[in-house]
Amino acid sequence: MLTDQQRQELLKRHRPGHGLEQAFYTDPDIFQFDLETVFYREWLFAIAVCELPKAGNYVTHRIGDYGVILVRGADDEIRAFHNTCRHRGSILCKAAKGSAPKLVCPYHQWTYELDGSLMWAKDMGDDFDPSLHGLKQVACRQLEGLIYICLSETPPDFDAFAEVTKPYLVPHHLHDAKVAFESSIIENGNWKLVWENNRECYHCGGNHPALCRTYSDDPSVSGIGEGGVISPYVQAHFDRCEAKGLPSQFHLSDDGQYRLARMPLLEGATSFTMDGKFAVTPWLGRVTLPDAGALMKFHYPTTWNHFLPDHAVIFRVTPISPTQTEVTTKWLVHKDAEEGRDYDLQRLTEVWLTTNDEDRRVVEDNQTGIKSPAYEPGPYSRTQESGVLQFVDWYLDALRASVTPQIMAAE
Ligand code: FES
Ligand SMILES: [Fe+2]
Repeated sequence: MLTDQQRQELLKRHRPGHGLEQAFYTDPDIFQFDLETVFYREWLFAIAVCELPKAGNYVTHRIGDYGVILVRGADDEIRAFHNTCRHRGSILCKAAKGSAPKLVCPYHQWTYELDGSLMWAKDMGDDFDPSLHGLKQVACRQLEGLIYICLSETPPDFDAFAEVTKPYLVPHHLHDAKVAFESSIIENGNWKLVWENNRECYHCGGNHPALCRTYSDDPSVSGIGEGGVISPYVQAHFDRCEAKGLPSQFHLSDDGQYRLARMPLLEGATSFTMDGKFAVTPWLGRVTLPDAGALMKFHYPTTWNHFLPDHAVIFRVTPISPTQTEVTTKWLVHKDAEEGRDYDLQRLTEVWLTTNDEDRRVVEDNQTGIKSPAYEPGPYSRTQESGVLQFVDWYLDALRASVTPQIMAAE
């Protein structure tokens, strides 16, 4: 465990405009620091609402030491609970997903209602009060078909994010969605390398031939709005989409945690497919402008999303260890779209399955290179990597905010 002093020194040593030093990507204590200061405090994207269509449907998720169950109750409400039994603490739901009328602990069969209340516990005596032993709730919020959770008992504000984001998501009708395909990969790299790679397209030309068929690696497009600069071409695209009733303007939150912008694809391209044409009918949502491009949203530390006129692609980042990160990708299509008739799964998923694998490789190569004792943080390109800089600044600010006030005052 790092002392406050060590944390402070780490932060002080950071050279602005440069990458982070090796320990940030390899050290178990810093990984723990990241979990405590970022993942155990912030709102985290968990799943899409459409993944729990019926009462009793549940999904489990693990973030560091915390196991979480997300379940739809008999009253249709979606709740999140800590996946630890109130008897002797066994994990309650072991499967990644499932459906159950009640949540039954596999150890001694304490049985919980879907709303978390304890319904049955054998031979606990007359003085046992079941109402004091319901499952512990995890903060859970829905945002236009996306579910966020927060592990902290005092979650930061969610409303401002929800208020800004909602109008952008409304036209995409995520409540009408189903998951057409889900992929989960483990990248042998620190979670921050996954984000750093995501936040620039400096690497796209050399690594993503499939993505570059439809998406521009021009930093005036892919790095839009970083440093406040928006090219006239991109601004015209925003304005054209807005005129059609689609919230599209670039918006970066004041604290840098989330960004929204409806980005143009390359001329003639309308979706992330190999030929640039749409992959699914009926479309998911009511975007009537075929070349609206992709509404691109990110929210640190767990998610980036692309909302296209015909489908949506939702990514989730989960830290596993200092050098391992899970990246889960879900392709959402209209719930009435039928595979084979309305879409071809390979066509729908090809670009991002390929791109994810290419990103996994560059992240792993980056991690391997950083492990060298000779590694020294290099400078970011201001033209190409302002998004990386923005991410690193957000991350360092989160760490700084967690260092005790006395030490900050002495700085
Ligand atoms: S630990 Fe769950 S019933 Fe005993
Ligand atoms: Fe990439």
